[in-house]
Amino acid sequence: LKSMQGRSFLKESDFTPTQIEALIDFAINLKNEHKKYGKVTKYLHDKDLVLLFQKTSTRTRLSFELGGDDLGGNTAYIDPTSSQFGKKESVEDSARVFGELADGIEYRGFEQSDMDIMAKYSGVPVWNGLSNEWHPTQMIADFMTIKENFGHLKGLTLTFVGDGRNNVANSLLVTGSMLGVNVHIVAPDELHPEKSVVDLAEKYAQDSGAKIMITSDIDKGVKGSNIVYTDVWVSMGETNWQQRIDQLLPYQVNMDLMKKTGTPDDELIFMHCLPAFHDDNTTTAKEAVKKYKGLDSPEMEVTDEVFRSPYGRQFVEAGNRKHSIMSIMAATLGDLSMYNEN
Ligand code: CP
Ligand code: NVA
Repeated sequence: LKSMQGRSFLKESDFTPTQIEALIDFAINLKNEHKKYGKVTKYLHDKDLVLLFQKTSTRTRLSFELGGDDLGGNTAYIDPTSSQFGKKESVEDSARVFGELADGIEYRGFEQSDMDIMAKYSGVPVWNGLSNEWHPTQMIADFMTIKENFGHLKGLTLTFVGDGRNNVANSLLVTGSMLGVNVHIVAPDELHPEKSVVDLAEKYAQDSGAKIMITSDIDKGVKGSNIVYTDVWVSMGETNWQQRIDQLLPYQVNMDLMKKTGTPDDELIFMHCLPAFHDDNTTTAKEAVKKYKGLDSPEMEVTDEVFRSPYGRQFVEAGNRKHSIMSIMAATLGDLSMYNEN
């Protein structure tokens, strides 16, 4: 853990596979510590944390805010509209100001290059709370959830079905490859991941033994999966609902698709980073499907049946966001002299 002190976490490849696995294990320890004692070691005692969001958030915000408090830090939340950031003040100047005022910065934004500027000019650890390209904090929670569920990671197969070019798909492909988890991306040809992301994953896979498959063939792609994972078809910052519904309706995760894995029920789970469009409580999805397809059912990337089935791990996964974000903050900024491995 000490090797990560003072470092930023802007994308998965900022750390080695060993460090990523250490973050997962530390998150599991923190969760157990909290379960046992009702509280955790105050690794961030008196540390000041800025939580900067240019896009909306429920889980990431709560995890940094409540997790920061649990670790003894002070958190200040900046919402997407009410500060000078991104409008009246440049990323560089804001970074310099945050660096003077705070000890660590969570940043949810658009361009990955802005993350780099934030880290460079603030001089303090910056944690990427989601960019257009990567969602690294989500990965620690996701692979923590998988490890808790199966007891191990290596040799499992995770299949992401949907928009194979989005931040979550990119991050799953690279992180799985780092950790020896086989990753299949199942998406129409035009939504296959970019070559640079696949190349990076292939590089890690050579060492870890993970197998990567990028395909538009659902039957082939989902066969043998242990984890079926999906995400929204239209990510924050995008508006192309009609196009995505046309492209991705055949790739909806439904019971038929789950059965195509051929995996026994006790070795198969469903995951979703959330928020999800699976029922009529989500107005955005409802309006979009009605408008573009004339359909009354606003089920999009996953059917309500799969979402609410015993396969679903998405709420445990959401809960693990807090433990994993605490792990990331404590490993990079915390006082690890308080860390007792037992
Ligand atoms: N999964 C995730 O990042 O959720 P929020 O957008 O609610 O933070
Ligand atoms: N791909 C989604 C993830 C949300 C947590 C988005 O960027 O909106």
